Amino acid sequence: MAKIIPVDAFDCVVFGATGDLTLRKLLPALYYRFRDGQVPPDARIIGAARSDIGDDGFRKRADTALKHHVAAADLDPDIVSRFCACLHYVRLDATQPDAEWDGLRQMLDQARVRVFYLATSPDLYGPVCRNLGRAGLVTPLSRVVLEKPIGHDLASAREVNNRVGDVFDETQIFRIDHYLGKETVQNLLALRFANSIFERLWTTDVIDHVQITVAETVGLEGRGGYFDKAGVLRDMVQNHLLQLLCLIAMEPPVSLEADRVRDEKLKVLRALRPFEPHDAVALTVRGQYTQGAIDGKPVPGYLADLGTNDPSHTETFVALKAEVRTWRWANVPFYLRTGKRLPTKVSEIVVQFRALPFSIFPPEAAEWQPNRLIIRLQPQEGIRLEMMTKDPGPGGLRLSPTGLDIRFDAAFNIRFPDAYERLLMDTVRGNPTLFMRRDEVEAAWAWVEPILDSWAGRPDHPRPYSAGTWGPTAAIALIERDGRTWHEGFE
Ligand SMILES: NC(=O)c1ccc[n+]([C@@H]2O[C@H](COP(=O)([O-])OP(=O)(O)OC[C@H]3O[C@@H](n4cnc5c(N)ncnc54)[C@H](OP(=O)(O)O)[C@@H]3O)[C@@H](O)[C@H]2O)c1
Repeated sequence: MAKIIPVDAFDCVVFGATGDLTLRKLLPALYYRFRDGQVPPDARIIGAARSDIGDDGFRKRADTALKHHVAAADLDPDIVSRFCACLHYVRLDATQPDAEWDGLRQMLDQARVRVFYLATSPDLYGPVCRNLGRAGLVTPLSRVVLEKPIGHDLASAREVNNRVGDVFDETQIFRIDHYLGKETVQNLLALRFANSIFERLWTTDVIDHVQITVAETVGLEGRGGYFDKAGVLRDMVQNHLLQLLCLIAMEPPVSLEADRVRDEKLKVLRALRPFEPHDAVALTVRGQYTQGAIDGKPVPGYLADLGTNDPSHTETFVALKAEVRTWRWANVPFYLRTGKRLPTKVSEIVVQFRALPFSIFPPEAAEWQPNRLIIRLQPQEGIRLEMMTKDPGPGGLRLSPTGLDIRFDAAFNIRFPDAYERLLMDTVRGNPTLFMRRDEVEAAWAWVEPILDSWAGRPDHPRPYSAGTWGPTAAIALIERDGRTWHEGFE
């Protein structure tokens, strides 16, 4: 197991301390890092929100949240109580310049790293930063963490970036895409750049196409108000799926230094072929779930989940075909799909290699399947290389695809830290490698925006699909037109 290096004592102010993200993700992540000795006992985690709950109320909520979101075996009452002693609370309307900023200032230590985590609705990012600046709370050792979404289109993303940039230097801004904190995503860098075999195969001569699937079984989970204004293209493709595409498609960076990695990802975003209005019809499919069944249980349709009878044009599913216009990736399509209420929860990247140029085996010897490298982000993180091998035993030469597997949980037999654990510690350490730089976010919006515009200008609506299926049949046609199929062998 890797040695845990403690970070120096820090102050972390979490705006939105009473919200879902803080209680479900941030406090459990900080608890694990505390339990493992990485967060020192004199670190201060200061919750800030408008509710009048005080230190005790915040600690009680934290205690309850840990009971819900940390495995019982990992909850030690003594450690929980020492962790809760690091928690403090200030009541504050962060949009108000005359709020209790002095109270907050008095709690903070001038000499420490200061993390301002904005776990609030994104329209508060600008006002909160402005008030932090006015109150003189931003020191050279300060960093600000922004959750997605950064804007809802290019112009609004620029506006958020400008407002935050008025107060914080770009090196102090940490834009979270929690997918980048997943072990397997970091393992992608190791797979490609710490092994000599794959990089030589990472070319148009050898790779036929790439598929990226992020499938959810859940519907709106109480976030309907936000989701109905966003849709899955903004909510998932603009950030998570494009970031995964970048890690697959980028050239080797000259070093692991944050900006060198981000420079290479940016080049990929800029090499994506822009969508013309007619492309959005031919190369994208959007869908919206209707009632159906998942795991044998009936589930309502999107409008019922939303609690309305009025039609909504918001897509809960998207499949699209993207092209990275570089020498390496010429003629290698990237098929992306993501959606809600799909049959299974899975996030996978499939790199499919080209078929054999010629076979010495009789056609009846096998059901031929091209080699595939499957990188699984969830549920069980791992990597599988599918190869054709001989079926064991007598009875003639029969071939079948077999997987060379690395299942990380079995291989390492340790708990896999949640992405937020890694990312929170990276903000304290000031390492922005796994965070999105401003130009990346804006380049991703610049690519997505013509698709949104083209959809908005069309009379047709998202195609219906039954909950529990893999989206509208047009999504299957999108890839099958090219003589390929979606990978659905999830186990
Ligand atoms: N939840 C998730 O799983 C998730 C996942 C990815 C990204 N995100 C993003 O993370 C952010 C937070 O999401 P969430 O689900 O935690 O939202 P949430 O449950 O609605 O919580 C919002 C928090 O903001 C506080 N707040 C609202 N107005 C405030 C103000 N003027 N001053 C100070 N505090 C204020 C609220 O507390 P008071 O009412 O007490 O002030 C509450 O603590 C959003 O940007 C969301 O898009 C969330």
